[in-house]
Amino acid sequence: MCGIVGYVGKRPAIDILLKGLKRLEYRGYDSAGVAFFSRGKLEVRKSQGKLENVERLMDGSSELFADAHCGIGHTRWATHGKPTTQNAHPHRAGHVVIVHNGIIENYQEIKAELISRGHKPESETDSELFGFLVLEAMEKGQDLVTAVRTSFAHLEGACSVVVMSEREPGKVVGVRNGSPMAAAFDPQGGAILASDAQPILEYTKEVIFLENGDVVVGTEKGLAFFDLKTGAPLDRVGEILDWSVDKIDKGGFPHFMLKEIHEQPAALVDTLNGIMDRVKTNPFPLAAQPGADLLRTAKEITFVACGTSWHAALLGKYWIERFARIPVNVELASEFRYRDPVLAPGALVIGMSQSGETADTLAVIRDVKKRGFKTLGLTNVRGSTLSREADAIFYTSAGPEIGVAATKTFTTQMLAVLLWAGYLGIEHKAPRTSPAGTPNAKPISFEELFHEIVKLPHQIKECLDDPQGMITAVRSAAKQLQNIKGFFFIGRGFSYPIALEGALKLKEIAYVHAEGYAAGELKHGPIAMIDQDMAVVVLAPQDSWRDKTVSNLEEVKARGAKIVAIGGTHDQNLKNLSDFWIPLPAQKDESLLPFLMTAAVQMLSYELALLKGTDVDKPRNLAKSVTVE
Ligand code: F6R
Repeated sequence: MCGIVGYVGKRPAIDILLKGLKRLEYRGYDSAGVAFFSRGKLEVRKSQGKLENVERLMDGSSELFADAHCGIGHTRWATHGKPTTQNAHPHRAGHVVIVHNGIIENYQEIKAELISRGHKPESETDSELFGFLVLEAMEKGQDLVTAVRTSFAHLEGACSVVVMSEREPGKVVGVRNGSPMAAAFDPQGGAILASDAQPILEYTKEVIFLENGDVVVGTEKGLAFFDLKTGAPLDRVGEILDWSVDKIDKGGFPHFMLKEIHEQPAALVDTLNGIMDRVKTNPFPLAAQPGADLLRTAKEITFVACGTSWHAALLGKYWIERFARIPVNVELASEFRYRDPVLAPGALVIGMSQSGETADTLAVIRDVKKRGFKTLGLTNVRGSTLSREADAIFYTSAGPEIGVAATKTFTTQMLAVLLWAGYLGIEHKAPRTSPAGTPNAKPISFEELFHEIVKLPHQIKECLDDPQGMITAVRSAAKQLQNIKGFFFIGRGFSYPIALEGALKLKEIAYVHAEGYAAGELKHGPIAMIDQDMAVVVLAPQDSWRDKTVSNLEEVKARGAKIVAIGGTHDQNLKNLSDFWIPLPAQKDESLLPFLMTAAVQMLSYELALLKGTDVDKPRNLAKSVTVE
């Protein structure tokens, strides 16, 4: 979604704005721009396309911005109006210039009124109109902060803005009312504002996350906060973030996505240490926190999430039902919020969102809270809206994820829900039973399961380092299948959510048509698609579902599909049935296999994307954090 940076202080503003916007590129955008004071006058440079276009616009005018120490910048992801230069931010209205993130719902009404009063908006955006409202208010004699506040009162919808005016040079005024905003004191004097902490971390680790309804004013002296409605001064305290700047760079990998795939072992270790109290001897003691009580007392659990997070939630359902025998529902937030859903008394609603800012997920959390249900959040971002609005929160500790396609945030979400499942199993003294239909599969105890979970990061690292040949096999399959018409990913049980995730990753970053399917569903329709131009990725590890999945493999093989089988290293039969064989190390408990399979499907999409030459880290049309519905 859109990204905002603002700076005022002693450092060169343009540098900070452009660097900051680069850090926000991961959010997805299709135009960009900056506005800055040069000799007391506002200059705007903006362009459709990438930030480089804006940088190019600055070439040759160094005299203009050499002395710029105050400015705002924006990356825009088009919602109202095409991704053109004209629609790019910042937008200028007389002596006022603004950037905006979010949606102004009553923009048509405001536009009609502004036009009737003689203003001439130049873009198709809702955003630009706010500048005219501020301009009018200042013309009536209000100072910049008051004008921003009174103008904001006319807006409907959730959004944030940052504004400057030539009448008050050296001042940057921001409002958060929906879309997130962070701010910090520049230790060298001054202030920096941004849509999230990443543009700030290079200068300071102490970051203040604005609350909804906060106004922030940055000047050379630092920051001041006010209440949007009353104008009363507010005290806001910073949080110290431990995300180092080198974590945000590529660290020698060609793409952030590949780096983040390789960071999964470390991210899992950090997440495990953050969620569990490993000092205690009990097998699954979660660190004492309010969320653990909510989980323990839940009569039923409903997960709400979108996209990849929804896939992790689906795995959560499978694990919690098996280990803890508690009923679990998994809901797409965008559907749930507009149905008339029924929740059982005592149900706990868990919002899962790596960014913690997904509009649909947040809307459900707000709605069910109003209806009196307890809510829990699982997110990777401290200070995110979800972390503030849910009754209690658990964090994954994946660190910043820059690649738009979720990788380490997915596996850390998986780990968190697996730990919850084990914890609930122990709390409810649930029997460890064999899965339905497989009376001979011997389940391990929770204690043993815990010991196996602790080994997972090491095993994933081994897979990625490739001594067993998993990555070599993935690479060779990708090379030979790069021109295939389309893919199905099929799996049963714990492999099914990974089939969905594998197909999503491939669509997302390689732009290849792919569908994830429950293997048993193929014959109910999609098998009609199968011919020699299709590839089927069969997730058939050594688990309770293996034989049934292999029967489905035979059905598609008989119809000519190319078979990519991901299964147990020693499964010779599966190997013989496949065209491409991806060996998966064995696990003591089948519930842990999804972690290793995830690494395989992530790498398959990555390799295919490389061969297709797509923009792996910033796939077209996508945004990292989906703050509009
Ligand atoms: C895919 C991906 C998305 C997100 C989805 C929800 O790689 O990242 O499908 O999972 O947009 O985002 P969060 O988890 O931030 O709520």
